Amino acid sequence: MADLMAIMTSPPPTEPVILDVPVPAHVPKHLVRDLRAYQGLVWNDLDDPYLPVDRLRDDDIPPVMWSPFPATWITSGMWVLTRYQDCAKVYQDTEHFVSGGSADFQRLIGETFRCLPLSYDGKEHLAYRRFLNPFFTPKAVGELNGYIRQLCDDMIQPFVANRGGDFAYDFARVFPVKVFLTLMGFPHAMLDKFLAWEDQILHSRDFDIMRVALSEVLAYLRDIMAARQAVPQDDLLSRIVHGDIDGRDLTDEEKMGAVFLLWLGGLDTVASTLGKMFRRLALDHELQARLRANPALIPGAVEEFLRTQPLVSSMRQLRKDLTLHGVDMKAGDWVQALTPAANFDPDAFPSPREFDPERKANRHFTLASGPHLCLGAHLARQELRVALEHWLRQVPSFSLASEADRLVVPGLHATKHMNIAW
Ligand code: HEM
Repeated sequence: MADLMAIMTSPPPTEPVILDVPVPAHVPKHLVRDLRAYQGLVWNDLDDPYLPVDRLRDDDIPPVMWSPFPATWITSGMWVLTRYQDCAKVYQDTEHFVSGGSADFQRLIGETFRCLPLSYDGKEHLAYRRFLNPFFTPKAVGELNGYIRQLCDDMIQPFVANRGGDFAYDFARVFPVKVFLTLMGFPHAMLDKFLAWEDQILHSRDFDIMRVALSEVLAYLRDIMAARQAVPQDDLLSRIVHGDIDGRDLTDEEKMGAVFLLWLGGLDTVASTLGKMFRRLALDHELQARLRANPALIPGAVEEFLRTQPLVSSMRQLRKDLTLHGVDMKAGDWVQALTPAANFDPDAFPSPREFDPERKANRHFTLASGPHLCLGAHLARQELRVALEHWLRQVPSFSLASEADRLVVPGLHATKHMNIAW
């Protein structure tokens, strides 16, 4: 039997090969696969970096598989579902699937607070969403519109002057984070430190590095929350630390859970999407021309960019046994709804590889679905639309500056550098 840790540190195969590694007794051996190449963890330079996932629809590949690798603080491995309808069930069937707290990285250092609202279900989750939703409605985030547009214009200027530049590093990495820092009330001087901590927590895949970053960021967040507790400001941090639910003050653990999850979700998600979006545009001049000629297509294009370039695949825990496609899954098992596979499922999206800004009923899972639908969805969409509108208006048809700029991860990892030129 192979050593799982040794496999983990070797490059993933391009095929969903069967692995002979230790797994729970109820997991059939032929379903244990190395799926890392499809889970958004591996760099490639393809025109469409998500193309390899089509392999998972071939007749010889089961729709339910077991990935034996640990994820976040979860050490047991998980079922992976690849069909749209099965992924929809994971999001909608709250009778079987519960959150389980897959994003509770803080458990690695013994913290007991839970990410809020993501780690809660049912009535508790609803109460937390009711508290947070008003800060993220289209109207609430619309109040940032003037700032977002001005920031975008200011940040495009150096590119215009130089007829190009490093889009990933100098625009995508910074633009959404500045919006987030402004919304929350974090000092802009923390930008680089925040991004470094987040990179260590989400992308190092090294538990020791994650532990150090977690200790540092949580200490920082506790300090700034205490400062807002003492002297409130006109920002979201203050509204959370002075928040109440049905007349009761939030506890310190709840405040921490809300602020930490926003911190995790608000930093590199939009940055990563922007990088992939502009990479695709740089490789597709026809699409650029179409959107420049008809800006009314931009909202629909944003949905297609989201559908065709998803970042994360949600994980849930089973609270009851469930049989799916003849496979017996047990209560307590983890399940991952593989978004890149579901978003290209031809049963849900006709001609799924076609980029169609006029696609009807574009119910992709990039921002999740069901009760945990992304809280920051309106903000994310607004930033993506503004970036598209302003760039396409101010800049002529652009390309990647070199072949080296094609490298991308079909997942959350933001491309660090990507030069464009015209
Ligand atoms: C393109 C950008 C974004 C993508 C692709 C994205 C994706 C997601 C996904 C897939 C989930 C569900 C996670 C799960 O089911 O386990 C989620 C939830 C969440 N996201 Fe986002 N997100 C984005 C931007 C943001 C931003 C900008 C914020 C905050 C400012 C944010 C805050 C949250 C929060 C708080 C939740 C938890 C919602 C709940 O549990 O009810 N996200 N996001």
